[in-house]
Amino acid sequence: MLETASHDPRLVGLGETQAEPCTLVIFGGGGDLAKRKLLPAVYNLALDGVLPKNFAVLGFGRRDLSDTQYRSFACEGIDQFSRQALDAKHWSDYEQSLFFLQGDFDDAKAFAALKTRLTEIDSARGVPGNRVFYFSIPPALIETCITQLKAAGLIRPPGDSQHFSRVIVEKPIGRDLESARRINATLAQVLDERQIFRIDHYLGKETVQNILVMRFGNSILEPLWNQKYIDHVQITVAEAEGVGTRAGYYEQAGALRDMVQNHILQLLSLTAMEPPWAITSDIVRDNKLAVLNCLRPVEDCTQCVVRAQYAAGKYQDNDVPGYRREENVEPDSTTETYVAIKTFVDNWRWAGVPFYLRTGKRLAKRASEITVQFKDVPPILFNLDPKNPIEPNMLTLRIQPDEGFSLRVATKMPGTKVRLRPVKMDFQYDTAFEDQSPEAYERLLLDVMAGDATLFMRRDEVEASWTWITNILQAWENNGTRWLPEYVGGSWGPVEADRLIEADGRKWHTRS
Ligand code: BG6
Repeated sequence: MLETASHDPRLVGLGETQAEPCTLVIFGGGGDLAKRKLLPAVYNLALDGVLPKNFAVLGFGRRDLSDTQYRSFACEGIDQFSRQALDAKHWSDYEQSLFFLQGDFDDAKAFAALKTRLTEIDSARGVPGNRVFYFSIPPALIETCITQLKAAGLIRPPGDSQHFSRVIVEKPIGRDLESARRINATLAQVLDERQIFRIDHYLGKETVQNILVMRFGNSILEPLWNQKYIDHVQITVAEAEGVGTRAGYYEQAGALRDMVQNHILQLLSLTAMEPPWAITSDIVRDNKLAVLNCLRPVEDCTQCVVRAQYAAGKYQDNDVPGYRREENVEPDSTTETYVAIKTFVDNWRWAGVPFYLRTGKRLAKRASEITVQFKDVPPILFNLDPKNPIEPNMLTLRIQPDEGFSLRVATKMPGTKVRLRPVKMDFQYDTAFEDQSPEAYERLLLDVMAGDATLFMRRDEVEASWTWITNILQAWENNGTRWLPEYVGGSWGPVEADRLIEADGRKWHTRS
C-alpha cells in the first residue's frame, strides 16, 4: 500500500492531503450543475466523514431562494442524484450548513452583501475565513465575477497564511485559443495560478486516475508502452444520450469543443505522458503539457478528421429525433455531434503510433474506453497464415460504465490440435472491490479544499489544447461547414469514421 509513503512531499497528489475548513460559495448555486453534481457531491463527502468540521456551502445567484428553500432544493438534488441515499437522520444536521444569497453578478451591492453574509457564516459555523469560490456560470460572466470579488475585498493574496481564497472554474474555458487566453489573463490579474482550479471532471473519475496507477504501479506495462511494441491507441468517449436540454450551449460548442478539447485530450495526455518524478501538481502537469505540445498539428482535415451529426434513430428501443429536430436547435444547424480524429504524438516514445480519437452523442451505447493495441507477433509459428492472422494483444481501460480493464491474449483451444483463440482477462471494479467509487466531483472538491491542484488543468495546458483544437476549427471554417455527414441515432457513428481508420488497415474496437 502507498500509505507508508503518503507524507512524502513527492506524493501530494494522491488525495491524502487534509481538506481545510472553509466555505464553498457556488456562483450559480441554484443551477443544474449545483443540483445534480455539486450539492450531492458535498453531501456524500459529509456522509463519508471527510469534510472539514467547520464547513458551509453558500449558494449565490439570481434565484430568489431563502436558506430553507435552498435546503429543499439541495435535498431534491441529493434525493435524485446522490451516490448514497439520503439519510434523514444525518440530513437534519447537515442541512444547517447550507445557505443561499440572492444577487446579480454585476451588482457591487450584491458582493458587499456576500461579504457580510460570509462573515456571519464564518462565526456561525466556526469557519476561519477560508473561501472556495465555484464559478458554475457561463464563461462570459467570469470576468465580471472575478472583478467584483476583488473589488469587494473577497480575494486574499496567495501567500496569506491565515485565510485562503481559491476559485474553481468550470469548462468551457473559452471557445478558441484567443478567448481562452483572454479568460486566463483576466483570472491572472486577480489571482495567482496556485489559487485557480480549472476543473475537468474526467480527471476526478476513479478509472482515469487508475491510468497512472496501471502504467506506473506495474512493472510489466511500462517497458512495452512505446512505439516499439504498440501499434496504435484508440480513445472513445461515446454517449447514448442526445443533446437533451442543453442545445443553447451545445449549438455554440459542438463535440470538438465540448469533449475533445478537454476530456479526450486529458485522457490522451495521461496515456502518453512520461513518468512524472513526483505525483505533485506541477510535475504531473508539466508532463501532460509535454504531450500536448507534441501533438501533430492537423494540416489537412479532410484526411484525418471526421465531423458528423446524428439523424433520427433509436434510443432504448424508442424513436428519437435527429439533432436538427431537437429542442432549441436550428433546423439547418451544422454543429457536429460526433468527431473522429487521427493524430500523432511526435516524440521519441510515440513516433509513428497513430492515436485515433472519437466522441459523439446519440451513439449505440455509453462507453468511454482507452484501447491500446500491441503489435502483431511475427508471421512465423502460430501466425503463418496471412488469411487467418492471430488477433494482436489489446489492453482496454474501461473508464465507464463497467469500470475496469481487460487484456486480450491468444490461447490454445482445448483439443488435440493446436488452434488459437483470443480470450479476455477481465478485471471489474465493482466485483473486485466492496467500496463504492466516489463521484468525480467528490474527489475534486476535496482536493480544492486541500489545495491540491494535481487533478486540475493549468493555464498552459488549457492553452496548448486550444492551440491544437483551434487549428482544426480554422480548417473547418476554411473548408466551409455547410454540409456534414449524418449518422443514424443509436448507431456507432458515420461510415466516414470507419473509413478513416480502415484506410490504415485497422478498425474501431468499441462496438459491442
Ligand atoms: C460534459 C459535456 O463535460 O461531459 C457533456 O459538456 C457530456 O456534453 C458530459 O455529456 C459527459 O460526462 P460523463 O461524466 O457523463 O461522461
